[in-house]
Amino acid sequence: MSEKDQQLRAQAIEEIEKYKQKVEADPYRQSFHHMPPVGLLNDPNGFIQWKGIYHLFYQWMPFDTGHGAKFWGHYTSDDFVNWTHEKAALTPSEWFDKNGVYSGSAVSHEGLLYLFYTGNVKDEQGNRETYQCLAVSEDGIHFEKKGVVVHLPAGYTAHFRDPKVWKKSDHWYMVIGAQSENMEGKAVLFRSSNLYEWEFLGSITGSNEEQLGDFGYMWECPDVFELNGKDILVVSPQGLEEEGMNYANTYQSGYFAGTLDYDHPKFVHGPFRELDRGFEFYAPQTTLDEKGRRILVGWMGVPDQYEQAHPTIENQWVHCLTLPRELTWNGEQMLQKPVEELKEMRGPVLLHSSITIENDQKAIRGVEGKPVELNLEFDKVEDQFAIELFQHASLSYKEGILTLSRPHLEDKKKTEFRRVKLEDGLKNLHLFIDHSSIEVFVNDGKEVFTSRIFPQPEEERILFTSLGTTTFSIEQWKLNGFQFD
Ligand code: FRU
Repeated sequence: MSEKDQQLRAQAIEEIEKYKQKVEADPYRQSFHHMPPVGLLNDPNGFIQWKGIYHLFYQWMPFDTGHGAKFWGHYTSDDFVNWTHEKAALTPSEWFDKNGVYSGSAVSHEGLLYLFYTGNVKDEQGNRETYQCLAVSEDGIHFEKKGVVVHLPAGYTAHFRDPKVWKKSDHWYMVIGAQSENMEGKAVLFRSSNLYEWEFLGSITGSNEEQLGDFGYMWECPDVFELNGKDILVVSPQGLEEEGMNYANTYQSGYFAGTLDYDHPKFVHGPFRELDRGFEFYAPQTTLDEKGRRILVGWMGVPDQYEQAHPTIENQWVHCLTLPRELTWNGEQMLQKPVEELKEMRGPVLLHSSITIENDQKAIRGVEGKPVELNLEFDKVEDQFAIELFQHASLSYKEGILTLSRPHLEDKKKTEFRRVKLEDGLKNLHLFIDHSSIEVFVNDGKEVFTSRIFPQPEEERILFTSLGTTTFSIEQWKLNGFQFD
């Protein structure tokens, strides 16, 4: 451990101690989501199950609720419910990462845990430099930096980051989020046989390539994997214009499905599909666990999207991660479903097997409060249906469109909303409601809405409204939340 590393760690610990009481007293602290102990959290990083243990790292700025020279924070678990908050894994301590240990990924090789990340550097004139770096661990807790393994190739700007590494046949591959010198977002591929030396293969797809028109000026956090014989590229493009109900946030995250030709290399794929329809979802990353599940975790935030308007800022912390979600392929699209381990958080079930609401607004006995999980299965939705949460946010369905609305985070007099068209109508809604967030899985995970909400902390009411007749069943579980040590 270098002196600089020790010094940064000590400063971060001081910062945690300084704000501990304030942070922990915040009524918007979550009960089953990963948060920073102080400061800002953004992307999930290095998500892997290694020697049985899930490691979930995150971009962490301990000294501010804005962005800056990031650390890698670190959570571990063997069951997705009981978590240990480990010491920070990486600090911005070296010349090649001094302005931020930016996002990256993890792989396991010959008993060691390898972390690949982007070293972000600003030179004396404030110009950006970027290095793809490696750190290795024997115990999964302490990491030794090995330095730079990939330098910026010709033809790209210094917006070149977020290495995601995986193995295919007898080679390692690394996909990186990039910007061409023509200001086009790209996903570029490298290959290696030993994890230290990397050969540049070129762009696999991107803005203005064969199948895409103009598709943004920068692509962040790419992730390539196989799902049911399809190759999937998950990516967070920047610079898409809002289009109908799509691309409503400042930046988006979504995926392409197709076939990756590793030799040439080219990714032939279908259209981009957004992974989430809510206000806060970005930079997701997946891993393949030992049970063979493809699991995704995202950041419940979006860069620059009124981050400073989050009320938790006054208590010196901001943002959290999403729940882990299992991905499957239904022949046409990916489905997202919270991992089944989360059922361990449940208290006893409350079930109302047949509820009919007709031109009325109602509370349902026992259905209230937070943190809570609700599952609604619809038999009939004649006209309109809505769930109002805590006199604050609402989820409403009308003419095939599902809308999530909440008070505008910056201008509270306004309401803001996000929408999606449901091709097969409203079949079911699976909601996870924490103290300051909601995740809604719609129609078996065909669509998801992920958002922060900031209702009055003591407000518990959940109301159901129907125009015409709506018939449904509802299950509710009070949730015990994650156990952290
Ligand atoms: C995405 C991102 C990444 C970068 C990281 C820095 O939110 O901008 O591209 O590595 O955040 O924290």
